[in-house]
Amino acid sequence: MEILIRESQEAGCLLGARIIAKLVREKPAAVLGLATGRTPLRLYQELIRLHREEGLDFSRITTFNLDEYVGLPATHPQSYRWFMDEHFFRHINIDRRQTHVPDGTAADLHAECRAYERKIADAGGIDLQLLGLGRNGHIGFNEPTGSLRSRTWIKILSEQTLRDNSEVFGSLEAMPRHAITMGVGTILDARRCLLLAFGPAKALAVVNMIEGPLAAMCPASALQMHPRATVILDESSSAALQYADHYRWIDQHKLDWQKHP
Ligand code: F6R
Repeated sequence: MEILIRESQEAGCLLGARIIAKLVREKPAAVLGLATGRTPLRLYQELIRLHREEGLDFSRITTFNLDEYVGLPATHPQSYRWFMDEHFFRHINIDRRQTHVPDGTAADLHAECRAYERKIADAGGIDLQLLGLGRNGHIGFNEPTGSLRSRTWIKILSEQTLRDNSEVFGSLEAMPRHAITMGVGTILDARRCLLLAFGPAKALAVVNMIEGPLAAMCPASALQMHPRATVILDESSSAALQYADHYRWIDQHKLDWQKHP
């Protein structure tokens, strides 16, 4: 795991955007795995700026989002399809047909999960998977105790996740209780993983993910098994790490080819 601690969420998001932009420039037909939520918003804004001001070209990019609420149609303002269109896709030159979000309204949700896995495989696999981190250590909607080898499936959202995400729904009662999510195994298959976590509320999950044991109680700890996982933190989300000085030391002594743009 590569751990990059930056002074602020702003700096962390700009770094994340530069890593993705570099990939898009080097591989114009790359397959990106994307996340929703508060964490990557600034990163998407920066990619939009790079598109507008520096001509960053998304015309051949394919995307797969991590998850979607069961029962919410694409027209629902709290659906993740809506989120992606609103905060990213409609501001760049991506071919919307090349953007994929699981269909939470599919009549046969199990068939939808299998089809999603097939589409990812048919696209050649994911080059880079962007991830946020749940306060309880979830990635995608893989909640604690879910299998670390899972494929795209239907998960029951934990009470903690419902509480954390209920703000935009107005109330907890208005929230769906289930989601389709890429499995932990699906995420680990990405050639590269890029996880962002900011703010004090994520500090405990960050410790469990990086310094805790590999454990289904913290699904994000599965990234310890990934050959190319990068974690970007800010001061507050990294505050409880025991070996933060070590991660900073490593970051400061990188060889030129290991340095980030
Ligand atoms: C979103 C997702 C979730 C979020 C996580 C953090 O597509 O898969 O795992 O990344 O819940 O959410 P925020 O960024 O809102 O704190």
